[in-house]
Amino acid sequence: MEKYTADDFRESIRALESAISKCEKAKIKLKDGSPQKKWVNRQLEAFYVALAFIKKSKKKYVREECAAALGTLELSIQKCKKMLTRFIEPGSHKTLLERRRKAFEIAVELIKREAEMNDTLKTIATRYSCRGYTDEEVGDADLAAIAEAGLQAPSGMNRQNWHIVVVKNKALIAEMESEGMRVLSEFPDKAIYNRIMSRGGKLFYNASRVALIAVKEAFPKGAELIDLGAVAQNMALAATSLGVDNCYCGLAVFCFAGSKADEFRRKLKFPEGYGCGLGVLLGYAKEPSAPHAPDKEKVTVIE
Ligand SMILES: Cc1cc2nc3c(=O)[nH]c(=O)nc-3n(C[C@H](O)[C@H](O)[C@H](O)COP(=O)(O)O)c2cc1C
Repeated sequence: MEKYTADDFRESIRALESAISKCEKAKIKLKDGSPQKKWVNRQLEAFYVALAFIKKSKKKYVREECAAALGTLELSIQKCKKMLTRFIEPGSHKTLLERRRKAFEIAVELIKREAEMNDTLKTIATRYSCRGYTDEEVGDADLAAIAEAGLQAPSGMNRQNWHIVVVKNKALIAEMESEGMRVLSEFPDKAIYNRIMSRGGKLFYNASRVALIAVKEAFPKGAELIDLGAVAQNMALAATSLGVDNCYCGLAVFCFAGSKADEFRRKLKFPEGYGCGLGVLLGYAKEPSAPHAPDKEKVTVIE
């Protein structure tokens, strides 16, 4: 899905919702059993599947439903293309049709990709950094599964110099967040602070749960950071596979860079000698988005 942006996704959702609303209205007026009504019903089924894929909805469709949707969407793309040839001048109708065609194309690609990939590859390809969450809380069973996935990460010499702390306490999350922002605001270089301010001013983007991965220095120096990355990625992928949106939060370390560091370490029950390595934000996205585009130039194969 590398060629599409978050804006393309947003626009496609709007285009599909408008197409659905139009079909729902048309359906009422059409005669039962008529070819027009059959086509509208077929389109509606396909558009709902397309919308679910683009919104990364938790609703899953069986293979037959996806295959039927693919057929209808491909046909709808052809129809859009044909209609588009009639528009010479730009205008709102043309724009609407172009957006609809693009939404159908994105959905077709997503549905096809889902059919071709195994579950692990699908999860890897759909994980993205979510920077805006609803108030919906992640359930305990999902949190336990995500933390356990973290613990299943490899570590050099199996040292496991890590400890995962899942924070559900909203007051503590808010306290850490304001301390982190305070520390960042005092940096001579305001770039990071301004960046977070431009994203709403919240270090944790309203995530209902914040998992902190605490680490202890290992030998050779810095080796614990490699292990930390593996824990975090296991957690992020486990979360994605469970439909829990997530984001790494390296900036969480700044909550522990001021005068409240010891207090937080105590409240969070970090084991002796452990410091905050990274945060993993967990929640449900306000708006779905897409991961960064993989740059295939960064792979070299030597035959
Ligand atoms: C070690 C690490 C720390 C990160 N810290 C933050 C962070 O504090 N805040 C944030 O919004 N994103 C953070 N990210 C997410 C990256 O910005 C994101 O992975 C990157 O932009 C690629 O986007 P994608 O994850 O959606 O593909 C971090 C990622 C990594 C690997």
